[in-house]
Amino acid sequence: MLKVEKLVVRYGAVMAVRELSLEVGQGELVALLGPNGAGKSSTINALTGLVTPASGRIVLDGKDISHVRTEDRIRAGLTSTPEGRHIFSNLSVGENLRLGAAIRRDPTGVRQDIERFLSLFPVLSERYGQAAGTLSGGEQQMLAIARSLMSRPKLLLLDEPSLGLAPKIVARIFDFIGELKAQGLTLLVVEQNAKQALRFADRVYVVSSGTLRYDGPPARLADEHGLFNLYIGG
Ligand SMILES: Nc1ncnc2c1ncn2[C@@H]1O[C@H](COP(=O)(O)OP(=O)(O)OP(=O)(O)O)[C@@H](O)[C@H]1O
Ligand SMILES: [Mg+2]
Repeated sequence: MLKVEKLVVRYGAVMAVRELSLEVGQGELVALLGPNGAGKSSTINALTGLVTPASGRIVLDGKDISHVRTEDRIRAGLTSTPEGRHIFSNLSVGENLRLGAAIRRDPTGVRQDIERFLSLFPVLSERYGQAAGTLSGGEQQMLAIARSLMSRPKLLLLDEPSLGLAPKIVARIFDFIGELKAQGLTLLVVEQNAKQALRFADRVYVVSSGTLRYDGPPARLADEHGLFNLYIGG
């Protein structure tokens, strides 16, 4: 579904991503792991078009989208839940959800999807009219994921869904990510919390300093050159 070829991201003199190639197949959950500053968010942001790569190709369903606008990438089925969530704090839960559906022209379907997420996350229902900034961190992450899903993506990119959350909440969020996969969604998940990310991952990429260090099944990662301890820990 997604093919990334020799992606390079630079910020001035900083080379954040160095010829990174990766693939995500239909229905797969692929984990992208690595330490702070490895270039994970830069990769995700290049995939969504928030950052312009210096070189490389991004191919979605056989179509080169490297130079396609973010909005049109969303239309093509690629959506991300960015690191730090970026919900609109002053807008209500409901308004945040509707914004996630901004590209859609099927109001009935949008309403049905909102209903579905409210029954899935009852707390969002209780807080429906409340400013999103007043939600707890875990609630905000659920809202951020639900908002991304409102565009009905084929491929969802999640950047650090566990960031700053208590272990119990993290486990719940990953349970939900596992359900999304079971429903057929294709996912690329960036995580520092390797243990959670590997629960549902079909394949894993490990990056550090913008360079690919490992590509393979989660099971092999644990004994591969001590990679797990070296780059991920725990
Ligand atoms: N806007 C920017 N301007 C300059 N340098 C940047 C910018 N964004 C990121 N970088 C640098 O690029 C490198 C990769 O950063 P990136 O955010 O992609 O890493 P990451 O793997 O997501 O890290 P983390 O786990 O901390 O989120 C880092 O050295 C970072 O300092
Ligand atoms: Mg990051």
